[in-house]
Amino acid sequence: MAFSRFLTILILSFVHRNITQKYFDPKRHVIYYSDYNVLMRKCQPQLFTLLKDRSRRMPCNIVRTPIKHYRTCAVVGNGGILLDSRCGAEIDAHEFVIRSNLPPVSPYRTDVGNRTDLTTVNEKVLSQVNRDLLSKNATVKKAMLDRLGETPGMVLSYTLYFIRSKAAKKMKSIDKVIQKNKLTAVVAFPYKSFLRSKGVYQELVGEEWNFASTGLNTFALASTFCDKISMYGFYPMSTYQNKAVPYHYYDSRIPSARHEFDNEFKLLRNFHAQGIIRHVIGKCNID
Ligand SMILES: *[C@@H]1O[C@H](CO)[C@@H](O)[C@H](O)[C@H]1NC(C)=O
Ligand SMILES: *[C@@H]1O[C@H](CO)[C@@H](O)[C@H](O)[C@H]1NC(C)=O
Repeated sequence: MAFSRFLTILILSFVHRNITQKYFDPKRHVIYYSDYNVLMRKCQPQLFTLLKDRSRRMPCNIVRTPIKHYRTCAVVGNGGILLDSRCGAEIDAHEFVIRSNLPPVSPYRTDVGNRTDLTTVNEKVLSQVNRDLLSKNATVKKAMLDRLGETPGMVLSYTLYFIRSKAAKKMKSIDKVIQKNKLTAVVAFPYKSFLRSKGVYQELVGEEWNFASTGLNTFALASTFCDKISMYGFYPMSTYQNKAVPYHYYDSRIPSARHEFDNEFKLLRNFHAQGIIRHVIGKCNID
């Protein structure tokens, strides 16, 4: 019984990974910003193929990614369910910790941990990081430098369309400040937005999801380079055990109606039930 369950998990994980790998790949979606010029000079950026290859089939494999392969990853969403969870130590104990949109961690570290190895950021957050780093207000600037310096080698990875966009200029400016302040943080970009990889949900759940959340897309990306994934902070309902659950653990924003949160939640619960991931809701065990 135990063995057949193990086999089922193995097969399901394999099938799941094979599907996701068609759509997500850190070598294409998390590229060192320092390799941007190489990509522009030696590759066809939209097709991600080598210029010297006239058949336009050979991938642009001369750009590099800071992402390696990890045994255990924590994918941490920003959900209010994390408040009072005391999951911080458990989250930080993973080999690689992934978050979205560079959320504040230190003041909440008992619940959310304080390590971030990879954070995927959208346009709004990229602009905020840039603005804070260039701020004349020393307090504001220092807070952002501290946040970027919290985990050595933290990767700040942009998620949307990047090539020749305004985002490229912002990232250049952020990279400069990081170099100047001798931080070990790394900035990274995708050759093409991986948030547009809708086809994967068609294959996984048989439905097209137009607005899969950044969190779910980040999880899909992570599943291509992590053996075991635990997920925290993904809970879309507004109450849990008769208590109100805010949308974010760190502010009072209300959710955007565009996302398919209920369907996403069902998918995660299914994966959890099948043993493909650990989806943690509520309190973490503390000995
Ligand atoms: C700098 O920013 C901090 C935090 O937002 C604020 O409290 C402070 O008043 C600002 N200082 C100046 C000189 O604007
Ligand atoms: C992270 O939290 C741990 C305790 O949970 C603490 O020892 C460590 O100094 C913190 N790191 C940072 C960068 O705040």
